[in-house]
Amino acid sequence: MAFVKGRFRALVAHPQVEALGELAELLGSAGLHVETARTPLEALNKLRAHPAHVIVSQQVTGSFDGVGLLESSILHAPEALRIALVSSPDEAVDLDYRPAHAGTIIRLVARPSERSRLVALVNEGVKLLSLVEEQRELVRKLSLEQGKLHRRETLLDTVVKERTKELEESYEKLKVANRQALFGLAEAIEAKDPYTKGHCGRVAAYSLVLAKEAGYPAEGLETLEFGAFLHDIGKIGIKDAVLLKPGPLDDAEWVHMREHPVKGYDIAMKIAMLHPIMPAVRNHHERWDGSGYPDKMVAENIPLVARIVAIADAFDAMATDRPYKRALPLEECEAVLRKTALKMYDPDLVAVFCDRHLGTLYREDYDDLPLDDDVRAASSSD
Ligand SMILES: [Fe+2]
Repeated sequence: MAFVKGRFRALVAHPQVEALGELAELLGSAGLHVETARTPLEALNKLRAHPAHVIVSQQVTGSFDGVGLLESSILHAPEALRIALVSSPDEAVDLDYRPAHAGTIIRLVARPSERSRLVALVNEGVKLLSLVEEQRELVRKLSLEQGKLHRRETLLDTVVKERTKELEESYEKLKVANRQALFGLAEAIEAKDPYTKGHCGRVAAYSLVLAKEAGYPAEGLETLEFGAFLHDIGKIGIKDAVLLKPGPLDDAEWVHMREHPVKGYDIAMKIAMLHPIMPAVRNHHERWDGSGYPDKMVAENIPLVARIVAIADAFDAMATDRPYKRALPLEECEAVLRKTALKMYDPDLVAVFCDRHLGTLYREDYDDLPLDDDVRAASSSD
């Protein structure tokens, strides 16, 4: 940093007016703003009001204790360059100004030949003070920038957190909207076949509880639930005359009715949102022994979700009243499932479903209804 005239202050103390003026002029010519004092007390008062960067005092014996003044000045100007002008060369011992020892007093012999040395010393001291000040300014600016940077980081962090929260909320809303859309589709199926009202929801609930008990991967449960909910979506494409026929279906009508898994698959193919549930839609009428439809898959080749939905679907068909049959009690439903497992259903899943009585999920639906062979025969769902 360039030395700026008058930027640094000097205090000169000397009991004699003439010598005081001479010293003041000398330091003033070195670019310092100079104050003068004729007594140590006056000097200390001035220092208290305006701390100096350079303090020069004549060392005089008696009432004017120059070195004492310089020592006391540490309190008011701790970093000042302190110079004592002594009368004898023997007293001029401390010649190095070391900032690390700011209390150091430099002693110069007070004679004209030493004045150029005094000016040189003051100039060096002032340069050093400039550097220290510059360094402090840099540290101050750096700290300021660090503070700004920290505030920006904090702001950025807040913005990122807010955006993340908004995105998460949007995603949750989207999920809710998707669920509503899917439930709407399921309602469309039930609206077409009012006799199965509530069936889709119950199949979804039974499937979910069976999947959980069978150790189905947690991350796949939601898709499984939707798949179970919409497994009969293809019934939208079945003619009302067949779907709603009160009596038994003839062969041609059965052929048409059994097209619903493929019709459902074709619908799901056209809606990206439904792609993950296609196995449940297409394969829920496959049978463990390969006698099912549409793909005649056998045993574990049948997608797991379809095997789960098949059991839930069959159970609900047995456990609820239909126009052509009465509901079976829980024990009878379980007995039919166990009896037909190996032929129709995954026996391990049937064991889980029956052993743990997962059908009690809608237990209020079970009344002690009279059994009847026709009901048993009609218990397999389509
Ligand atoms: Fe079906």
